[in-house]
Amino acid sequence: VEFEKHTVVTVFGASGDLAKKKTFPALFGLFREGYLDPTTKIIGYARSKLTCDDLKDRIRPHLKKPHGVEDDAKIEQFFKMISYISGPYDTEEGYNKLRSACETFEKEKQITQPHRLFYLALPPSVFLSVAKQIKALVYAENGITRVIVEKPFGHDLKSARQLQNDLSPLFREDEIFRIDHYLGKEMVKNLLPLRFGNKIINSSWNKNHIQSIQISFKEPFGTEGRGGYFDNIGIIRDVMQNHLLQVLTLLTMERPVSFDAEAVRDEKVKVLKSMAPIDFDNIVIGQYGKSTDGTKPAYLDDETVTPGSKCITFAAMTFQIQNERWDGVPIIMRAGKALNDGKVEIRIQYKSVATGAFNNIPNNELVIRVQPDEAVYMKFNAKIPGLSNETQVTELDLTYSKRYQNFWIPEAYEALIRDALLGDHSNFVRDDELDVSWGLFTPLLEYLEGPDAPQPEIYPYGSRGPKELGAYLKKNHYEMTKNDYTWPVTSPQ
Ligand code: BG6
Repeated sequence: VEFEKHTVVTVFGASGDLAKKKTFPALFGLFREGYLDPTTKIIGYARSKLTCDDLKDRIRPHLKKPHGVEDDAKIEQFFKMISYISGPYDTEEGYNKLRSACETFEKEKQITQPHRLFYLALPPSVFLSVAKQIKALVYAENGITRVIVEKPFGHDLKSARQLQNDLSPLFREDEIFRIDHYLGKEMVKNLLPLRFGNKIINSSWNKNHIQSIQISFKEPFGTEGRGGYFDNIGIIRDVMQNHLLQVLTLLTMERPVSFDAEAVRDEKVKVLKSMAPIDFDNIVIGQYGKSTDGTKPAYLDDETVTPGSKCITFAAMTFQIQNERWDGVPIIMRAGKALNDGKVEIRIQYKSVATGAFNNIPNNELVIRVQPDEAVYMKFNAKIPGLSNETQVTELDLTYSKRYQNFWIPEAYEALIRDALLGDHSNFVRDDELDVSWGLFTPLLEYLEGPDAPQPEIYPYGSRGPKELGAYLKKNHYEMTKNDYTWPVTSPQ
């Protein structure tokens, strides 16, 4: 792939957490692996009065060195590509400096068609003023301007539309890259190839064969340190309306006519429009309390959280897609913080085989583990080896770390920044997609945040979540697999 030479990448919010932990490390990762052209110029921009060395010191601990000391030289080379501009977000001052930095560089390199990529790692409060100043003062008139923006894209349908109305006169849709970093994860990118590249999966991917689907997100830590931010957001906006809905969409959409970005996104919008309104009576909501041993704090112990807040840190809800393929198949989405595990996975539970001879055979289940340790495996019935005629559950197992050696799986942000540099929108969120997704979640959010909001169930930090979850899954046709079988490794004596 040919990269544009002499691109200028400007990272707004350069001194912030996101830039330090994700944006700069991703740029470095791309550079380290040879996917960021060494002629690229990187400019950090923020309000903080820092020197460029201060900025580098902040970034350094977050850079990954998979090749050990060899990477130290790469870090130094990478740092030479970076400069820093301190300036306000809302007045022209800093942007004039930024423009002249871009122009000087482009002139020196005799660039006639500049390529400028702006990464807005910024809170919503300053987002729009930065976008306006970029358009007014640093837009590449005779070249290519690309703007990467980060969630939140609004707070509900109304504010998302407002943001879109404010942004659309400034940049064309093909100049905007709305990041949902889940779309950069290896296994999420694998969903369409897995589905449409395998006849065996594709032909059974419908209501005739599938009993239920579960998309589950578990984090083993609470909102430590970001309680104040989270209190206004809650788990639904934080990971469900965006990340998990993207996963759901890729799992259920029809086959696109091609892998072209618009073809893929057209299908995504179509399936989103086929979703029934979320049923408020079929949800579980929770908030974490102290761990049972008392060592971990409750959500409400965080001083930055509003006392008595009903903010939810756990939710489970069920989607119904009203089309030929999915009618009647419950699709459960569940997410929680401060749980017993850190895992993101998709479970496709098949229907049971015909009764009679095979009465007690468990259902097949295809599991796609997004993280950690990427894997696709199928719970599968087979005869116990040897003289026994009984069957037992076993697994067809594609665990990446066992199957693929010496592979570089890019971090989500690496994959996405590379796409943006190449102008590929397939893994970014389109305006109409955002609109439908907010339309789907806004009534539920209004209910949960309105005067009649139900009380979330308190679950202990480090537990599996609210107690009603087990019954909830069952009600929505997901059957727990029995774990009472033993694994015959060698044949009986
Ligand atoms: C972010 C949320 O968007 O996604 C965080 O704001 C969450 O609360 C994170 O922890 C999860 O991302 P990942 O890549 O760690 O699964």
